[in-house]
Amino acid sequence: MEKTEVEEQTKDEGQVVTPWQVAAKDSGKIDYDKLIDQFGCQRLDQFLIDRVHRLTSRPPHVFLRRGVFFAHRDFNDILDAYERGEKFYLYTGRGPSSESLHLGHLIPFMFTKYLQDAFKVPLVIQLTDDEKCMWKNLSVEECERLARENAKDIIACGFDITRTFIFSDFDYVGGAFYKNMVRVAKCVTYNKAVGIFGFTGEDHIGKVSFPPVQAVPSFPSSFPHLFSGKDNLRCLIPCAIDQDPYFRMTRDVAPRIGYNKPALIESSFFPALQGETGKMSASDPNSAIYVTDSVTDITNKINRYAFSGGQDSKAKQILYGANLEVDIPIKYLNFFLEDDEELEHIKKEYGSGRMLTGQVKERLIKVLTELVERHRRARAAVTDEMVDAFMAVRPLPNMFN
Ligand code: TYM
Ligand code: TRP
Repeated sequence: MEKTEVEEQTKDEGQVVTPWQVAAKDSGKIDYDKLIDQFGCQRLDQFLIDRVHRLTSRPPHVFLRRGVFFAHRDFNDILDAYERGEKFYLYTGRGPSSESLHLGHLIPFMFTKYLQDAFKVPLVIQLTDDEKCMWKNLSVEECERLARENAKDIIACGFDITRTFIFSDFDYVGGAFYKNMVRVAKCVTYNKAVGIFGFTGEDHIGKVSFPPVQAVPSFPSSFPHLFSGKDNLRCLIPCAIDQDPYFRMTRDVAPRIGYNKPALIESSFFPALQGETGKMSASDPNSAIYVTDSVTDITNKINRYAFSGGQDSKAKQILYGANLEVDIPIKYLNFFLEDDEELEHIKKEYGSGRMLTGQVKERLIKVLTELVERHRRARAAVTDEMVDAFMAVRPLPNMFN
């Protein structure tokens, strides 16, 4: 079964989902059911969500209730172990390619913060400055700078410093981490890397050599200052499903080098303003809302670019109602409007024509402005000393308490 996890999936079914490209078939919507089949992951069902509720004695996060996190690999095993009293650690990351994060990037970090609080477990966050230096046209120095800037946005999500280690590849790779990279690299043939990542003869060898760097934070022995003597500690990786290829490779290799496979919990994409054919992406500023956008930016972007499923005249809207399936303001509210009842109410009124696009957009602008304002205040409070403290190679003595 694991074999199918690493087989070629990149161009199947006409839709492309890789760490570098997300595009639906024939400019339709991303078909997430098909992705689950293609990638060979499991659907995150109500049974698992109820289990999380029971084990953590707190209501499941809105991203679980609304199906934003929709797929997993072996998450049930993590919960089984947790129920027996065994803890685990969380691993997630960010490729610092832009000055600030967009709302899509916040999703895995907000969710990871919830998991850290709910399960009381340690967390490692990888900043792949090396990756972005190799994939984007950025210098080593620029990527180092962006990594520190991004660390501030990540810290602003509220992570607990007594349980969180943030590291950049340029600073941390070496020692035990590097030994694991070499162990992984020896297990992956060039042909297999081509099958998983779609490399071509034109790609430079930096790209080909990168996947082990993202793989090995899945293994506790890569962090001797944290997990020395805990080689069997399990790892859970929250991310959007575009990162799955890296971890299909990791899971394929793990048993061959005597390690546990990491478990995954994977989200769908926060869509671009233009519609659900792709993800919100930093490479297209008009597709994205940044955590640094002002109220005016947000208002303009939503009013001007957010794809509407509403009718093009008031009379028609009252007659036919909106098509919620393609409506971006409704999709965004589904991620960020916490009140279930209000969301249902808006969907009913808007879908039946009693509410107009402008009113829904107005509600969304308020929700997003509040979120971005809250983030801005939290980020402004993050000092350089705090970044140094989160990134210091240090033991975390109370990380499981
Ligand atoms: P990066 O910087 O492209 O993205 C960081 C995280 O955000 C997720 N993401 C999104 N989630 C929802 N909607 C979107 N529109 C959206 N766009 C991006 C990504 O899936 C990711 O979880 N190579 C990685 C860095 C990395 C990493 C990891 C990520 C290293 N180790 C382990 C996850 C887990 C990268 O460039 O991510
Ligand atoms: N063009 C992509 C970028 O610069 C890189 C990319 C896309 C890629 N598909 C790939 C690299 C397949 C290697 C293999 O972000």
